[in-house]
Amino acid sequence: MTRTINHIVIAGAGQAGARAAEALRARGFKGSITMIGEERHLPYERPQLSKALLRSPDTPLAYIKHANDWNEALDIRIATGSAAIDGDADRRVVSTADGRSFPFDALLLATGTRPRRLPALEGAQLEVQYLRNVEDALRVRRHIQAQSRIVIVGGGVIGLEAACAAANAGCHVTLVENEARLLPRAFPAAISDLVADKHRNHGVTFVFSTTVTGSSSRSVTLSNGAEIAADLVLVGIGVTPSGDLAARLGLPVAEGIAVDACGRTAVPGIFCAGDAALQWSRCHGRAIRVETWANAQNQAISVASNMIGETSDYGDPPWFWTDQYDLNIQVTGDMRDADHIARGDPGSGRFSVIAMRGTELVGALSVNATKDMAMLRRIIATDARPGRADLESPAYDLRTALKAR
Ligand code: APR
Repeated sequence: MTRTINHIVIAGAGQAGARAAEALRARGFKGSITMIGEERHLPYERPQLSKALLRSPDTPLAYIKHANDWNEALDIRIATGSAAIDGDADRRVVSTADGRSFPFDALLLATGTRPRRLPALEGAQLEVQYLRNVEDALRVRRHIQAQSRIVIVGGGVIGLEAACAAANAGCHVTLVENEARLLPRAFPAAISDLVADKHRNHGVTFVFSTTVTGSSSRSVTLSNGAEIAADLVLVGIGVTPSGDLAARLGLPVAEGIAVDACGRTAVPGIFCAGDAALQWSRCHGRAIRVETWANAQNQAISVASNMIGETSDYGDPPWFWTDQYDLNIQVTGDMRDADHIARGDPGSGRFSVIAMRGTELVGALSVNATKDMAMLRRIIATDARPGRADLESPAYDLRTALKAR
């Protein structure tokens, strides 16, 4: 039976929720749209929390649309300041922590993720900060401006971007990573080393294969027995999906909220998009959560169409970027468990690494090579199969691979 969709509720007022709401209106949806947000802010994109906001003392928070009447222009009701925490899939209603109820015909779960906590620092006397929302970022920024001694736990995107900002501002920075190298999830070992050297040149100290086990009011203790003086500990050790509402609606949430290519969950009429969605990735050969800006925008736009009866499959390869001092690094697809082909001379400071499994391109990483990356993203999204010899020759124009299809 096809249900008439008059009321759409979007749980989560971050980037995915906002982009879905915009897309619903762009696709001509005339019914009511209610977006429920835990934060008291209008929607904003999160990359700025570890990038622009930390870099400069007076950069303001950039909202998704500058005009505060964005929601009025699109006739979107935004209920901020209280999370959607409960719901009933049969009665088709969700309710917020402060007791409001919102009936829906179709529901989008755009609840995102929350930072993984480090048990060893629960109840610490020392200031411990996670980086999830704008208030967190502003607290970290104050420490950076004050040139505090900062211990960063986790050598992922958050930890490394915060380390850049802090080191550039003259802070004393120690980064503790429990793996043997940086960003093992996304970087080949040579790139981890390149980034580590760049940081060391800016004064950052690394402690690898180690974690934080305790703290005093002025220091942290590491698993190798060392004690490091700190004014702030910034923890960036990954995220977990915010799945409480999904669970209340009867959806299993382990690694994420499972969706098909249309963003449909196991419950008809309930969809999911953004960081919380567990979706098939052809590059990875398995379902993954894609914690990126691009996915929060593009998957949400695609899923919005499906919510109003259109059919739109989403399967863009994951893509993210990070700026590490003068290195712009972009990663697409999956770099792990693959053969790596170098394109360009790493010594020149501008090159790419392409990941292949058999004849299939499954991932790519570029260092200051944005044009290569733009083409490689397109190639990986298609079934184009350029040969290895061509790929490693900088003289080979990557556009040829797309034309040859
Ligand atoms: N002690 C030290 N390091 C740890 C510990 C621990 N107990 N647990 C995990 N780590 C390390 C991981 O090995 C990894 O290198 O923390 C790093 C976490 O990196 P990410 O998974 O990239 O997570 P994070 O940097 O927190 O970023 C979270 O925000 O910017 C977005 O999309 C980005 O997915 C990312 C998310």
